[in-house]
Amino acid sequence: MLKVRDLVVDIQGSRVLRRISFDVSYGEFACLVGRNGAGKTTTLRTIMGFRTPVSGTIELDGQNICALRPFQIARMGIGFAPEESEVFGELTVAENIAMPTWACPDPRPAEARIAEAYKVFPKLERYRQRDGQALSGGERKMVSIARALALGPRLLLLDEPTEGLSPIIVPSIVEGLANVRSSGRAVFIAESNIHHVPDFADRLYVIERGEIIFAGKPTEARRDRAVARVIEGVAHAAKS
Ligand SMILES: Nc1ncnc2c1ncn2[C@@H]1O[C@H](COP(=O)(O)OP(=O)(O)OP(=O)(O)O)[C@@H](O)[C@H]1O
Ligand SMILES: [Mg+2]
Repeated sequence: MLKVRDLVVDIQGSRVLRRISFDVSYGEFACLVGRNGAGKTTTLRTIMGFRTPVSGTIELDGQNICALRPFQIARMGIGFAPEESEVFGELTVAENIAMPTWACPDPRPAEARIAEAYKVFPKLERYRQRDGQALSGGERKMVSIARALALGPRLLLLDEPTEGLSPIIVPSIVEGLANVRSSGRAVFIAESNIHHVPDFADRLYVIERGEIIFAGKPTEARRDRAVARVIEGVAHAAKS
């Protein structure tokens, strides 16, 4: 399980995360929702080791991972798909997705992990031999998430996984991602659009100006008036 406690992060002298604490357990689909600039990406990037916190702890299965490098954190079983999908243009879709299986030791065969990635994004099956540079923005997003899945992570961190995807396919993609939890793994997504958070999410955290202002079920969040104000702002900002 991922356990974050009192995490403080400064960027260029400004306090961006203010003692945030939260948990993500295995078998859970958890979401971090907040307006633009609230601190979602900073949270995920700090977990991945791209930023050093001022104070606080990040534990994965009881081990403090704060001082580890990003590749070490990936090896411990955290998969990450960043906000800006980093797809290699010269490689095919199949190569982009299979890449993490080349270097990362895992007891499950690479084919099983790759097959799982295609199960979440069936469209990519047809594009296997297409070069990354010939994909649309939404397709690149899918490849980037599929690549993180192919790592066979215990915990999957996804920054705005639905951004750029057409609204019609968002529910099926979210459901496919949530299904990953049934194999006892955890999925944690950052979202700026509350409407993309399904009621079946196990936990919702709302972040506002670097602070967690709500932790609970999505349905409870929708009834919470203080949260509703922020959420409406989120929904409004996401629509504009
Ligand atoms: N490299 C940077 N240099 C300076 N300030 C930064 C940098 N990265 C982030 N920030 C600031 O930190 C705050 C949090 O940014 P962050 O990217 O974590 O927000 P976010 O919740 O992911 O927003 P969005 O929904 O727009 O992706 C913002 O005020 C942002 O301007
Ligand atoms: Mg962001």
